[in-house]
Amino acid sequence: MRTRVEELLSAMTLEEKAGQLTQYFSFGLHEDDAAVGPSPQRPGEVEDALARGGAGSLLFVTDPAETNRLQRRAVEGSRHGIPLLFGFDVIHGLRTIFPVPIAMAASWDPATMERGQAVAAREARAVGIHWTFAPMVDVARDPRWGRIVEGAGEDPHLGAAVAAAQVRGFQGERLGAPERIIAGPKHFAGYGAALGGRDYDEVDLSDAQLWNVYLPPFEAAVAAGAGNVMTAYMPLNGVPATANRWLLVEVLREQWGFEGFLVSDANAVRNLVTHGFAADPTDAAARAAGAGLDLEMAMTDPAYAHLPEAVASGAVSVEAVDACVRRVLEAKLRLGLFESPYVDEERARAVLADPAHREAAREAAQRSAVLLRNEAVAGAPLLPLDPARLGSVAVLGPLADSRRDTLGPWVFDVDLDETVTVLQGLRTRLGEAVQVRCAPGVRPAQRLFPSIFDAFPGNTPPDPEGFDDEAELARAVDLAREADVAVVVLGEWQHMIGEAASRSSLELPGRQLELLQAVVATGTPVVLLLLNGRPLDLRWAVEHVPAILDVWYPGTQGGTAVADLLLGDVSPGGKLPFSWPRSVGQVPVVHSHTASHEPENQAKRYWDEASTPLFPFGFGLSYARFDHADLTLDRQSLPVGESLTASVTVTNAGDRDADEVVQLYLHQRHGTAARPVRELKGFQRVHLRAGESRTVAFTVGPEHRRYWNAAVRDVVLEASPFDVWVGGDSTAQLTATFTTTDGQAS
Ligand code: NOJ
Repeated sequence: MRTRVEELLSAMTLEEKAGQLTQYFSFGLHEDDAAVGPSPQRPGEVEDALARGGAGSLLFVTDPAETNRLQRRAVEGSRHGIPLLFGFDVIHGLRTIFPVPIAMAASWDPATMERGQAVAAREARAVGIHWTFAPMVDVARDPRWGRIVEGAGEDPHLGAAVAAAQVRGFQGERLGAPERIIAGPKHFAGYGAALGGRDYDEVDLSDAQLWNVYLPPFEAAVAAGAGNVMTAYMPLNGVPATANRWLLVEVLREQWGFEGFLVSDANAVRNLVTHGFAADPTDAAARAAGAGLDLEMAMTDPAYAHLPEAVASGAVSVEAVDACVRRVLEAKLRLGLFESPYVDEERARAVLADPAHREAAREAAQRSAVLLRNEAVAGAPLLPLDPARLGSVAVLGPLADSRRDTLGPWVFDVDLDETVTVLQGLRTRLGEAVQVRCAPGVRPAQRLFPSIFDAFPGNTPPDPEGFDDEAELARAVDLAREADVAVVVLGEWQHMIGEAASRSSLELPGRQLELLQAVVATGTPVVLLLLNGRPLDLRWAVEHVPAILDVWYPGTQGGTAVADLLLGDVSPGGKLPFSWPRSVGQVPVVHSHTASHEPENQAKRYWDEASTPLFPFGFGLSYARFDHADLTLDRQSLPVGESLTASVTVTNAGDRDADEVVQLYLHQRHGTAARPVRELKGFQRVHLRAGESRTVAFTVGPEHRRYWNAAVRDVVLEASPFDVWVGGDSTAQLTATFTTTDGQAS
């Protein structure tokens, strides 16, 4: 491979090298179009670039015939015949849409995540996509930030496990494995801490936050073999991530040994000028390439087209440019693109239609749902519903029968016809015997400001013509009154979350709360089903609605999975990957905060609100009930560098088979820095039959106790007493202690 790369390099002009380092969007190459919006590109720009070897990679092409056509232009129409690398945002599926990433994280089940991304990879590779801009491994602690939906939530330990599982799912055993694609963890680094939760805003993070919270999921993704990393848009502590040599070279390559290629976020190299960092696009290109940024993702007018100029002026060395080209060519060789650049269009159709993919999506949706509340109605928990005792169900709310909103953000080429909404899922499951009636109740919420994402077909819900607000609300309430149970499907329309979709409020948008209140007032038992990617203000609901099930944006098979869950074919077993705030004013609220003044009063720090979250991190109910008992540590005292085993007996004390996510939390009592009151350090999702008991064991090693310390500006491992808690969420009470010592084992 090395020889091949060097041969090509020595034959390439500087212009061709710059071309290899340029990735263009290819929006179907349309001209301005009323339906799709204005073209972000000059018509013909990509085709021209291909003809002169001016593009090494394209993104946004998903039609196999089109990938083949463009690939042919690159391979046959340019001097060296170097194939294109096709990238795309395969975030939670290509054709078969899985639950959104935050939902997959809520499954706390790496095997489910790995399987999901393997399916996504198989579909993507079949149509000619070689690389995904995923997983997004940014820790998100501010739910105003719309991209919380794309990640694994607040916690670095869970985030690291989720990151590694997704990389394995996308890439398989090795880069270039059949039916797999390159994973590109993003956005390196700190993007999730955007000021005010406003997307793209600046990020200021202490080194301790960076090392202990924001970087671990990236490190895990790199350790899992990720072939690519995408840089973040914003300046990190003032230095733009895209030309941040410390991040890209010292941390990523030198410290973590990353050997893959780096890509900028879209237009982020040009943005170096916008930041007031680079003087002009040439300076931007020189400084990004000089910091080891291999590939520029460009909408139009790539800054990297100025690289030859920058080399000529000495602003960047040709060696630095060659190093970037080498890494891009290596990726293409590893994937075998020189030998087989094209895809079989017939086979692609068969892969996309594979029913096994739909089955995997259904299972993932079942496993990611989180039961937030399940109070007794007439003596028994409202869920699961007993179909034998149901005569009629009212399925209400604006998201109950919306295919697009069942899928969530970041989906493009989907077959909406095959998406199962909650209404359809329940109708199919309940059959003729139960009357299922539906009404939206309220109209879709519209954005205050337009977004570039509105241009994608189906992204903006229509404002239905002639929608009579009062009459529709009344119709929904009437249906509820006449039904045995009302399933009210509320949340956020999918265009309200994702990129460039931050919110300043966590309230249910539009008149949804009013609808919920009116339905509850009928006296009919209500199940609130949430479709969301961020926590919403549920303060009223938790006092008045007996059952709340969070199904997130559950994907292609969402409605089928919801029916499986509501009717009790499976029990919900997901757990929250973030602390659920009571209101936006509490943000950020996390389980791993550090005790400060008068810790006993920590819960009472606001004048007008409790300081505790509405639901703690790791929380989720089940149709079963689990007891955790007999926490034992095999050692009470051990040298700092050694491990112990913590074991606990978990019993399914309910009368249904179900899953529990057993969680282990750790706290270092004292040291040279104040440590969080507790931090997640282990978890296992186990399936227990009704009445079954099992011993669940965790290793607690030095890797779980190490942390970056601002006093010594390095990673430390300290002798201290530690508290351990094990249980079903981050408020677990079952506890034990051990001590680490600088001395010998005892
Ligand atoms: C911008 C987003 O920040 C990034 O996550 C995405 O992969 C690219 N656009 C390409 O769509």
